[in-house]
Amino acid sequence: MKTEVAIIGAGPAGLLLGHLLRAEGIACVVLERRTPDYVLGRIRAGVLEQVTVGLMERLGLDARLKAEGLPHDGFNLADGERLIRIDLAELTGQQVVVYGQTELTRDLMDAAPERGLEVVYAAEDVALHDVAGDAPYVTWRKDGAEHRLDARFVIGCDGFHGPSRRMVPAGVGREYERVYPFGWLGIMADVPPCNHELIYANHARGFALASMRSQARSRYYIDVPVTERIEDWPDERVWDELALRLGPEAAAHITRGPSIEKPIAPPRSFVFEPMRHGSLLLCGDAAHIVPPTGAKGLNLAASDVHYAAEALVGFFKRNDPEAIAAYSARALSRVWKSERFSWSLTRLMHRFPEDGPFERAMQVAELDYIASSRAAQTAIAENYVGLPV
Ligand code: APR
Ligand code: PHB
Repeated sequence: MKTEVAIIGAGPAGLLLGHLLRAEGIACVVLERRTPDYVLGRIRAGVLEQVTVGLMERLGLDARLKAEGLPHDGFNLADGERLIRIDLAELTGQQVVVYGQTELTRDLMDAAPERGLEVVYAAEDVALHDVAGDAPYVTWRKDGAEHRLDARFVIGCDGFHGPSRRMVPAGVGREYERVYPFGWLGIMADVPPCNHELIYANHARGFALASMRSQARSRYYIDVPVTERIEDWPDERVWDELALRLGPEAAAHITRGPSIEKPIAPPRSFVFEPMRHGSLLLCGDAAHIVPPTGAKGLNLAASDVHYAAEALVGFFKRNDPEAIAAYSARALSRVWKSERFSWSLTRLMHRFPEDGPFERAMQVAELDYIASSRAAQTAIAENYVGLPV
Protein backbone atom coordinates (compact mmCIF):
# COMPACT_ATOMS: atom_id res chain seq x y z
CA MET A 1 0.00 0.00 0.00
CA LYS A 2 1.14 3.59 -0.61
CA THR A 3 -0.25 6.92 0.62
CA GLU A 4 0.95 10.48 1.22
CA VAL A 5 0.50 10.59 5.02
CA ALA A 6 0.35 7.68 7.48
CA ILE A 7 -1.29 8.63 10.80
CA ILE A 8 -0.67 6.44 13.86
CA GLY A 9 -3.58 6.55 16.32
CA ALA A 10 -7.31 7.19 15.93
CA GLY A 11 -7.88 9.26 19.04
CA PRO A 12 -8.98 12.90 18.73
CA ALA A 13 -5.65 14.05 17.24
CA GLY A 14 -5.39 11.32 14.61
CA LEU A 15 -8.99 11.54 13.46
CA LEU A 16 -9.04 15.34 13.43
CA LEU A 17 -5.86 15.42 11.33
CA GLY A 18 -7.13 12.70 9.00
CA HIS A 19 -10.32 14.66 8.29
CA LEU A 20 -8.42 17.90 7.72
CA LEU A 21 -6.07 16.23 5.22
CA ARG A 22 -8.89 14.49 3.36
CA ALA A 23 -10.73 17.80 3.13
CA GLU A 24 -7.63 19.16 1.35
CA GLY A 25 -7.46 16.14 -0.96
CA ILE A 26 -4.31 14.78 0.68
CA ALA A 27 -4.24 10.97 0.78
CA CYS A 28 -3.86 9.48 4.25
CA VAL A 29 -4.50 6.29 6.22
CA VAL A 30 -5.06 6.11 10.00
CA LEU A 31 -3.76 3.03 11.84
CA GLU A 32 -5.31 2.29 15.24
CA ARG A 33 -4.40 -0.65 17.43
CA ARG A 34 -7.70 -0.78 19.34
CA THR A 35 -11.31 -1.31 18.29
CA PRO A 36 -13.69 1.67 17.89
CA ASP A 37 -15.57 0.70 21.08
CA TYR A 38 -12.34 0.59 23.06
CA VAL A 39 -11.30 4.04 21.82
CA LEU A 40 -14.72 5.47 22.73
CA GLY A 41 -14.67 3.77 26.12
CA ARG A 42 -11.72 5.79 27.44
CA ILE A 43 -12.53 8.35 30.11
CA ARG A 44 -11.74 11.89 28.97
CA ALA A 45 -12.36 15.49 30.00
CA GLY A 46 -14.91 17.75 28.38
CA VAL A 47 -14.04 21.42 27.88
CA LEU A 48 -13.38 22.62 24.32
CA GLU A 49 -11.51 25.80 23.43
CA GLN A 50 -12.58 27.84 20.41
CA VAL A 51 -9.65 26.40 18.40
CA THR A 52 -11.16 22.92 18.75
CA VAL A 53 -14.71 24.06 18.07
CA GLY A 54 -13.42 26.02 15.05
CA LEU A 55 -11.79 22.95 13.49
CA MET A 56 -15.03 20.97 13.84
CA GLU A 57 -16.95 23.88 12.27
CA ARG A 58 -14.40 24.07 9.41
CA LEU A 59 -14.95 20.36 8.75
CA GLY A 60 -18.72 20.71 8.92
CA LEU A 61 -18.76 18.12 11.71
CA ASP A 62 -20.11 20.39 14.44
CA ALA A 63 -23.87 19.63 14.19
CA ARG A 64 -24.06 17.57 17.41
CA LEU A 65 -21.54 19.83 19.13
CA LYS A 66 -23.79 22.81 18.40
CA ALA A 67 -26.92 20.90 19.42
CA GLU A 68 -25.60 19.24 22.60
CA GLY A 69 -22.54 21.28 23.62
CA LEU A 70 -22.97 23.66 26.56
CA PRO A 71 -21.45 27.12 25.87
CA HIS A 72 -19.98 28.55 29.07
CA ASP A 73 -19.29 32.28 29.54
CA GLY A 74 -17.32 31.77 32.73
CA PHE A 75 -16.01 29.43 35.39
CA ASN A 76 -15.32 29.73 39.12
CA LEU A 77 -12.44 29.43 41.54
CA ALA A 78 -13.40 28.69 45.16
CA ASP A 79 -11.28 29.23 48.25
CA GLY A 80 -13.46 27.41 50.75
CA GLU A 81 -15.49 30.51 51.57
CA ARG A 82 -16.58 32.16 48.30
CA LEU A 83 -16.82 31.66 44.57
CA ILE A 84 -14.52 33.84 42.45
CA ARG A 85 -16.11 34.00 38.99
CA ILE A 86 -13.84 34.40 35.98
CA ASP A 87 -16.05 36.07 33.37
CA LEU A 88 -14.55 34.62 30.17
CA ALA A 89 -17.00 36.35 27.83
CA GLU A 90 -16.57 39.82 29.36
CA LEU A 91 -12.80 39.56 29.76
CA THR A 92 -11.92 37.89 26.43
CA GLY A 93 -15.02 38.00 24.22
CA GLN A 94 -14.81 34.20 24.01
CA GLN A 95 -16.51 31.15 25.53
CA VAL A 96 -15.58 27.52 26.11
CA VAL A 97 -17.93 24.67 25.20
CA VAL A 98 -18.57 21.75 27.54
CA TYR A 99 -18.80 18.68 25.31
CA GLY A 100 -17.35 15.27 26.14
CA GLN A 101 -14.12 14.47 24.28
CA THR A 102 -15.54 11.02 23.76
CA GLU A 103 -18.44 12.61 21.87
CA LEU A 104 -16.05 14.61 19.71
CA THR A 105 -14.12 11.43 18.91
CA ARG A 106 -17.40 9.72 18.09
CA ASP A 107 -18.38 12.52 15.70
CA LEU A 108 -15.02 12.22 13.91
CA MET A 109 -15.20 8.40 13.86
CA ASP A 110 -18.76 8.29 12.50
CA ALA A 111 -17.95 10.75 9.69
CA ALA A 112 -14.83 8.88 8.47
CA PRO A 113 -16.54 6.50 6.00
CA GLU A 114 -18.62 9.19 4.26
CA ARG A 115 -15.57 11.49 4.05
CA GLY A 116 -13.32 8.81 2.55
CA LEU A 117 -11.03 8.72 5.60
CA GLU A 118 -9.54 5.20 5.81
CA VAL A 119 -9.10 4.06 9.41
CA VAL A 120 -7.63 0.59 10.05
CA TYR A 121 -8.73 -0.58 13.52
CA ALA A 122 -7.25 -3.51 15.45
CA ALA A 123 -3.89 -2.96 13.68
CA GLU A 124 -1.45 -5.02 15.76
CA ASP A 125 2.26 -4.33 16.34
CA VAL A 126 2.32 -1.13 14.33
CA ALA A 127 5.97 -0.28 13.65
CA LEU A 128 7.52 2.81 12.06
CA HIS A 129 10.51 2.52 9.71
CA ASP A 130 13.00 4.92 8.06
CA VAL A 131 11.28 8.00 9.49
CA ALA A 132 14.58 9.97 9.40
CA GLY A 133 14.58 9.91 5.61
CA ASP A 134 12.00 10.94 3.01
CA ALA A 135 10.63 7.45 2.31
CA PRO A 136 9.28 6.17 5.61
CA TYR A 137 6.96 3.21 5.91
CA VAL A 138 4.77 1.58 8.54
CA THR A 139 4.13 -2.14 9.09
CA TRP A 140 1.48 -3.93 11.12
CA ARG A 141 -0.35 -7.22 11.45
CA LYS A 142 -4.07 -7.77 11.16
CA ASP A 143 -6.08 -10.99 11.02
CA GLY A 144 -2.81 -12.89 10.88
CA ALA A 145 -1.58 -11.07 7.75
CA GLU A 146 1.44 -8.73 7.59
CA HIS A 147 0.87 -5.28 6.05
CA ARG A 148 3.11 -2.44 4.84
CA LEU A 149 2.19 1.20 4.06
CA ASP A 150 4.68 3.48 2.31
CA ALA A 151 4.15 7.21 2.89
CA ARG A 152 5.93 10.58 2.52
CA PHE A 153 5.19 11.51 6.14
CA VAL A 154 4.26 9.61 9.30
CA ILE A 155 2.31 11.52 11.96
CA GLY A 156 2.48 10.13 15.49
CA CYS A 157 -0.94 10.69 17.08
CA ASP A 158 -0.51 7.56 19.20
CA GLY A 159 -0.70 9.10 22.65
CA PHE A 160 1.70 9.00 25.57
CA HIS A 161 2.32 5.26 25.37
CA GLY A 162 2.56 4.92 21.59
CA PRO A 163 5.71 4.02 19.59
CA SER A 164 6.16 7.23 17.58
CA ARG A 165 8.01 9.39 20.12
CA ARG A 166 10.49 6.56 20.65
CA MET A 167 11.56 6.79 17.00
CA VAL A 168 13.42 10.03 17.78
CA PRO A 169 17.05 9.08 18.59
CA ALA A 170 18.07 9.41 22.24
CA GLY A 171 20.66 12.06 21.43
CA VAL A 172 18.10 14.19 19.59
CA GLY A 173 15.03 14.05 21.84
CA ARG A 174 14.70 15.99 25.11
CA GLU A 175 12.09 15.23 27.81
CA TYR A 176 10.69 17.57 30.49
CA GLU A 177 8.47 16.03 33.20
CA ARG A 178 6.76 16.84 36.48
CA VAL A 179 4.71 14.05 38.13
CA TYR A 180 2.36 15.50 40.75
CA PRO A 181 2.26 14.05 44.30
CA PHE A 182 -1.46 13.25 44.28
CA GLY A 183 -4.11 11.48 42.21
CA TRP A 184 -7.33 12.86 40.70
CA LEU A 185 -10.29 10.73 41.78
CA GLY A 186 -13.18 11.32 39.38
CA ILE A 187 -16.85 10.43 39.77
CA MET A 188 -19.40 10.52 36.94
CA ALA A 189 -23.11 10.25 37.82
CA ASP A 190 -26.40 10.78 36.04
CA VAL A 191 -27.45 13.67 38.27
CA PRO A 192 -27.83 17.38 37.48
CA PRO A 193 -24.73 19.56 38.03
CA CYS A 194 -24.49 21.51 41.29
CA ASN A 195 -23.71 24.72 39.40
CA HIS A 196 -24.31 25.95 35.83
CA GLU A 197 -20.56 26.66 35.45
CA LEU A 198 -17.41 24.75 36.51
CA ILE A 199 -16.01 25.27 40.00
CA TYR A 200 -12.33 24.62 40.84
CA ALA A 201 -11.93 24.63 44.65
CA ASN A 202 -8.84 24.89 46.85
CA HIS A 203 -10.13 23.98 50.30
CA ALA A 204 -8.09 23.30 53.44
CA ARG A 205 -9.04 19.62 52.94
CA GLY A 206 -7.85 19.61 49.32
CA PHE A 207 -8.82 20.19 45.69
CA ALA A 208 -12.25 19.64 44.16
CA LEU A 209 -13.70 20.25 40.70
CA ALA A 210 -17.38 20.36 39.81
CA SER A 211 -17.92 19.79 36.08
CA MET A 212 -20.56 18.23 33.85
CA ARG A 213 -21.29 16.43 30.59
CA SER A 214 -24.86 17.69 30.21
CA GLN A 215 -27.68 19.13 32.33
CA ALA A 216 -28.37 15.55 33.47
CA ARG A 217 -24.83 14.14 33.86
CA SER A 218 -22.27 15.49 36.32
CA ARG A 219 -18.53 14.96 36.56
CA TYR A 220 -16.66 15.72 39.78
CA TYR A 221 -13.06 15.29 40.95
CA ILE A 222 -11.14 15.45 44.24
CA ASP A 223 -7.42 15.03 44.74
CA VAL A 224 -6.33 12.10 46.92
CA PRO A 225 -2.91 10.77 48.05
CA VAL A 226 -1.25 8.66 45.34
CA THR A 227 -1.39 5.69 47.69
CA GLU A 228 -5.20 5.68 47.79
CA ARG A 229 -7.13 2.75 46.27
CA ILE A 230 -10.53 3.23 44.64
CA GLU A 231 -11.90 0.52 46.95
CA ASP A 232 -11.29 2.92 49.86
CA TRP A 233 -13.60 5.49 48.27
CA PRO A 234 -17.22 4.31 48.20
CA ASP A 235 -19.55 6.77 46.48
CA GLU A 236 -20.89 8.25 49.73
CA ARG A 237 -17.39 9.09 50.93
CA VAL A 238 -16.69 10.90 47.64
CA TRP A 239 -19.96 12.86 47.84
CA ASP A 240 -19.25 13.81 51.48
CA GLU A 241 -15.76 15.08 50.59
CA LEU A 242 -17.02 17.02 47.57
CA ALA A 243 -19.63 18.79 49.72
CA LEU A 244 -16.96 19.84 52.22
CA ARG A 245 -14.40 21.00 49.65
CA LEU A 246 -16.73 22.82 47.23
CA GLY A 247 -18.10 24.95 50.07
CA PRO A 248 -21.61 25.47 51.44
CA GLU A 249 -22.99 27.43 48.46
CA ALA A 250 -22.25 24.65 45.99
CA ALA A 251 -22.80 21.80 48.47
CA ALA A 252 -26.39 22.88 48.95
CA HIS A 253 -27.02 22.09 45.28
CA ILE A 254 -25.15 18.77 44.95
CA THR A 255 -27.43 15.91 43.84
CA ARG A 256 -25.98 12.56 44.83
CA GLY A 257 -26.32 9.39 42.79
CA PRO A 258 -24.56 6.12 41.95
CA SER A 259 -21.25 6.49 40.13
CA ILE A 260 -21.07 5.22 36.55
CA GLU A 261 -17.30 5.89 36.39
CA LYS A 262 -14.87 6.38 39.28
CA PRO A 263 -11.19 6.32 38.20
CA ILE A 264 -8.05 7.58 39.96
CA ALA A 265 -5.45 9.10 37.61
CA PRO A 266 -2.07 10.67 38.54
CA PRO A 267 -1.67 14.08 36.85
CA ARG A 268 1.63 14.90 35.14
CA SER A 269 3.22 17.62 33.03
CA PHE A 270 5.34 16.29 30.18
CA VAL A 271 6.88 17.79 27.04
CA PHE A 272 9.00 16.08 24.40
CA GLU A 273 11.12 18.11 22.01
CA PRO A 274 11.43 18.24 19.06
CA MET A 275 7.96 17.45 17.68
CA ARG A 276 9.47 16.60 14.28
CA HIS A 277 12.27 14.26 13.26
CA GLY A 278 12.84 13.84 9.52
CA SER A 279 9.50 12.74 8.04
CA LEU A 280 7.92 12.07 11.47
CA LEU A 281 5.70 14.70 13.11
CA LEU A 282 4.26 14.24 16.63
CA CYS A 283 0.82 15.56 17.66
CA GLY A 284 -1.13 15.54 20.91
CA ASP A 285 -0.37 13.26 23.84
CA ALA A 286 2.41 11.61 21.80
CA ALA A 287 4.42 14.80 22.46
CA HIS A 288 2.99 16.32 25.65
CA ILE A 289 0.78 15.74 28.65
CA VAL A 290 -0.85 18.38 30.84
CA PRO A 291 -2.46 18.02 34.28
CA PRO A 292 -6.26 18.12 33.69
CA THR A 293 -6.58 21.28 35.81
CA GLY A 294 -6.58 23.60 32.81
CA ALA A 295 -8.63 21.28 30.53
CA LYS A 296 -5.90 21.63 27.89
CA GLY A 297 -5.25 18.03 26.77
CA LEU A 298 -7.54 17.72 23.77
CA ASN A 299 -7.26 21.44 22.95
CA LEU A 300 -3.47 21.25 22.69
CA ALA A 301 -3.85 18.22 20.43
CA ALA A 302 -6.19 20.33 18.28
CA SER A 303 -3.68 23.17 17.92
CA ASP A 304 -0.90 20.69 17.05
CA VAL A 305 -3.18 19.22 14.39
CA HIS A 306 -3.96 22.70 13.07
CA TYR A 307 -0.22 23.40 12.65
CA ALA A 308 0.51 19.94 11.24
CA ALA A 309 -2.28 20.21 8.67
CA GLU A 310 -1.01 23.65 7.59
CA ALA A 311 2.52 22.26 7.23
CA LEU A 312 1.40 19.25 5.19
CA VAL A 313 -0.84 21.36 2.95
CA GLY A 314 2.13 23.67 2.42
CA PHE A 315 4.30 20.75 1.40
CA PHE A 316 1.85 18.89 -0.85
CA LYS A 317 -0.10 21.80 -2.37
CA ARG A 318 2.39 24.70 -2.40
CA ASN A 319 5.58 22.67 -2.68
CA ASP A 320 6.85 24.53 0.40
CA PRO A 321 9.16 22.31 2.51
CA GLU A 322 9.77 25.20 4.92
CA ALA A 323 6.28 24.71 6.38
CA ILE A 324 7.27 21.24 7.57
CA ALA A 325 10.56 22.53 8.96
CA ALA A 326 8.72 25.18 10.99
CA TYR A 327 6.18 22.77 12.52
CA SER A 328 7.98 21.77 15.72
CA ALA A 329 8.92 25.28 16.87
CA ARG A 330 5.46 26.59 15.98
CA ALA A 331 3.61 23.85 17.88
CA LEU A 332 5.94 23.92 20.88
CA SER A 333 5.49 27.66 21.33
CA ARG A 334 1.79 27.13 22.16
CA VAL A 335 2.45 23.84 23.99
CA TRP A 336 4.82 25.46 26.50
CA LYS A 337 2.45 28.34 27.21
CA SER A 338 -0.40 25.88 27.86
CA GLU A 339 1.90 23.72 29.99
CA ARG A 340 2.74 26.80 32.05
CA PHE A 341 -0.90 27.70 32.59
CA SER A 342 -1.89 24.13 33.51
CA TRP A 343 1.06 23.82 35.92
CA SER A 344 0.34 27.25 37.43
CA LEU A 345 -3.37 26.52 38.03
CA THR A 346 -2.46 23.09 39.46
CA ARG A 347 0.04 24.75 41.84
CA LEU A 348 -2.53 27.34 42.91
CA MET A 349 -5.42 24.96 43.48
CA HIS A 350 -3.82 21.91 45.15
CA ARG A 351 -2.21 21.21 48.55
CA PHE A 352 1.27 19.74 47.98
CA PRO A 353 2.73 17.44 50.68
CA GLU A 354 5.83 19.62 50.93
CA ASP A 355 3.74 22.77 51.49
CA GLY A 356 3.94 24.50 54.87
CA PRO A 357 1.95 27.40 56.36
CA PHE A 358 3.82 29.89 54.14
CA GLU A 359 2.88 28.11 50.91
CA ARG A 360 -0.74 27.89 52.05
CA ALA A 361 -0.69 31.61 52.85
CA MET A 362 0.66 32.31 49.35
CA GLN A 363 -2.27 30.37 47.80
CA VAL A 364 -4.80 32.24 49.93
CA ALA A 365 -3.19 35.57 49.04
CA GLU A 366 -3.12 34.77 45.31
CA LEU A 367 -6.79 33.78 45.31
CA ASP A 368 -7.60 36.98 47.21
CA TYR A 369 -5.61 39.00 44.63
CA ILE A 370 -7.43 37.29 41.74
CA ALA A 371 -10.76 38.08 43.40
CA SER A 372 -9.88 41.78 43.43
CA SER A 373 -7.94 42.23 40.18
CA ARG A 374 -9.37 42.47 36.66
CA ALA A 375 -5.83 42.13 35.30
CA ALA A 376 -5.30 38.86 37.18
CA GLN A 377 -8.68 37.55 36.07
CA THR A 378 -7.97 38.54 32.46
CA ALA A 379 -4.68 36.63 32.48
CA ILE A 380 -6.47 33.51 33.71
CA ALA A 381 -9.38 34.00 31.28
CA GLU A 382 -7.24 34.36 28.14
CA ASN A 383 -5.34 31.19 29.00
CA TYR A 384 -8.47 29.23 29.88
CA VAL A 385 -10.28 30.06 26.59
CA GLY A 386 -7.03 29.20 24.78
CA LEU A 387 -4.24 31.40 23.44
CA PRO A 388 -4.35 32.28 19.73
CA VAL A 389 -3.07 29.71 17.22
N1 APR B 1 -0.49 1.52 17.18
C1 APR B 1 -1.65 2.12 16.79
N2 APR B 1 -2.37 2.95 17.59
C2 APR B 1 -1.87 3.19 18.82
C3 APR B 1 -0.65 2.65 19.28
C4 APR B 1 0.05 1.77 18.40
N3 APR B 1 1.19 1.18 18.78
N4 APR B 1 -0.43 3.10 20.55
C5 APR B 1 -1.46 3.91 20.86
N5 APR B 1 -2.34 3.96 19.83
C6 APR B 1 -3.62 4.68 19.77
C7 APR B 1 -4.42 4.58 21.06
O1 APR B 1 -5.15 3.35 21.09
C8 APR B 1 -5.31 5.81 20.97
O2 APR B 1 -6.54 5.51 20.33
O3 APR B 1 -3.37 6.08 19.62
C9 APR B 1 -4.50 6.80 20.13
C10 APR B 1 -4.01 7.97 20.98
O4 APR B 1 -5.16 8.72 21.41
P1 APR B 1 -5.10 9.62 22.74
O5 APR B 1 -4.33 8.90 23.79
O6 APR B 1 -6.51 10.03 23.02
O7 APR B 1 -4.22 10.87 22.36
P2 APR B 1 -4.60 12.13 21.43
O8 APR B 1 -5.35 11.74 20.23
O9 APR B 1 -3.32 12.88 21.29
O10 APR B 1 -5.61 12.96 22.35
C11 APR B 1 -5.10 13.91 23.18
O11 APR B 1 -7.40 13.78 24.03
O12 APR B 1 -7.82 11.56 24.53
C12 APR B 1 -7.51 12.78 25.07
O13 APR B 1 -6.30 12.49 27.13
C13 APR B 1 -6.17 12.79 25.78
O14 APR B 1 -6.53 15.03 26.38
C14 APR B 1 -5.76 14.18 25.54
C15 APR B 1 -6.16 14.40 24.12
C1 PHB C 1 -14.19 17.29 32.98
O1 PHB C 1 -15.36 17.71 32.77
O2 PHB C 1 -13.89 16.07 32.96
C2 PHB C 1 -13.10 18.30 33.25
C3 PHB C 1 -13.39 19.66 33.11
C4 PHB C 1 -12.38 20.59 33.35
C5 PHB C 1 -11.12 20.16 33.73
C6 PHB C 1 -10.83 18.80 33.86
C7 PHB C 1 -11.82 17.86 33.62
O3 PHB C 1 -10.15 21.09 33.98
